[in-house]
Amino acid sequence: MSLATAPAPSFDKGLANTVAAETQMSFIDGGKGVLEYVGIDIDALARNSTFEETVFLLWNRRLPTAQELKSFTEGLRAEYDLPAGMLELIRTMPRDATPMHALRTLVSALALHDSEADAEGEDANARKAIRMLARTPALIAGFDRHRKGKPFVAPDRTLSMAANFLWMLNGAKPTDAVARALDVCLILHADHGLNASTFAGRVTISTLSDLYSAITTAIGTLKGPLHGGANEEVMIMLREIGSLDRVEPYIMERLARKDRIMGFGHRVYKAYDPRATYLKTFARQVAADTGNLALYEMSRRIEEIMAREVAAKGIYPNVDFYSATTYHSIGIDLDLFTCMFAMSRIAGWAGHCIEQLDGNRLIRPAAAYVGPHGQPWVPVSDR
Ligand code: CMC
Repeated sequence: MSLATAPAPSFDKGLANTVAAETQMSFIDGGKGVLEYVGIDIDALARNSTFEETVFLLWNRRLPTAQELKSFTEGLRAEYDLPAGMLELIRTMPRDATPMHALRTLVSALALHDSEADAEGEDANARKAIRMLARTPALIAGFDRHRKGKPFVAPDRTLSMAANFLWMLNGAKPTDAVARALDVCLILHADHGLNASTFAGRVTISTLSDLYSAITTAIGTLKGPLHGGANEEVMIMLREIGSLDRVEPYIMERLARKDRIMGFGHRVYKAYDPRATYLKTFARQVAADTGNLALYEMSRRIEEIMAREVAAKGIYPNVDFYSATTYHSIGIDLDLFTCMFAMSRIAGWAGHCIEQLDGNRLIRPAAAYVGPHGQPWVPVSDR
């Protein structure tokens, strides 16, 4: 069918029934609660893989050999350091800035220190993707230390992405269990089909803009409470509730007001979010190990009430629900939770942008005009 004879597009609010891209990275069956990265079940990856191996998988569409993983990991670690100008920029930032505003600005500013920022081609984009992924932990940790009036901590190239982030954040080496907890969260958040931020990133790169611009767009989109910002809202809710006995009245009152319970529901999953399945068990272990079991018990109670009240609508906990407890348990400040999501999702965003450029077509949907026609122009003096 030629474009000239194609039927007029129909309005699809929220694009829920529109397929707008092809991807080889993640597969989702929302009805059955399945998520696979390149055909591998997310549960198997969360239990057995590392974030670095998962990124290699997403970007190369296969698991690495031992030698490939070693050299990919070394390549990432070689890019951990921030350009000096970035540290100066962090020092100029208001200490009370929202971390996601700081992160969006800083990732955008990385382009100013990359001579390849506007370089085209898959190889240049792959190098930029590695730099952005490797440097984002230092941006988040650097901003957090700046706002707390603490000196920056230089990255440690002997550490994994997760452990190095915690080292730069706290100035102390994390235990293996705490580093692994963050590593698991990074694996679970790395990619997720054509979610809102990934779509936004693909739209930007489809104009043949650059990868820094696309990732900056995606970070801005992730920030909203209906997307990546939900994990912070979950923690705020748990703090508001305060104790196990207050869970029932709090949730019932909010449901009666038709408020949304953050960390529940998903556009795609109408069964249990497969990222939450393992995280739920894992979060309990981390909470027990770190003395945060009360928080976990409140979460479990919320889940029970939601199952009783709204599961018939296909509303279950999503990845953000138990990741909030996990982040809190490993000592990450509430307002950094969405930055953790971004730190991981850069892997998915960059992979999608490179996919988009392979056979790119400008993404440009239509709008249904619902305003008036034939209106006269009236001189300002007569209005
Ligand atoms: N709490 C209570 N009711 C809900 C919730 C919730 N969290 N989510 C959906 N519903 C109800 C909604 O009120 C509606 O009910 P009714 O049909 O009676 O009017 C029904 O479920 C369908 O809702 P919808 O708005 O059509 O669903 P959607 O697909 O547009 O929204 C969502 C998906 C994620 C925006 C929504 O579930 C929500 O707002 N959840 C809370 C925010 C959240 O946790 N977001 C993180 C998503 S997972 C991380 C990520 O990938 O970004």
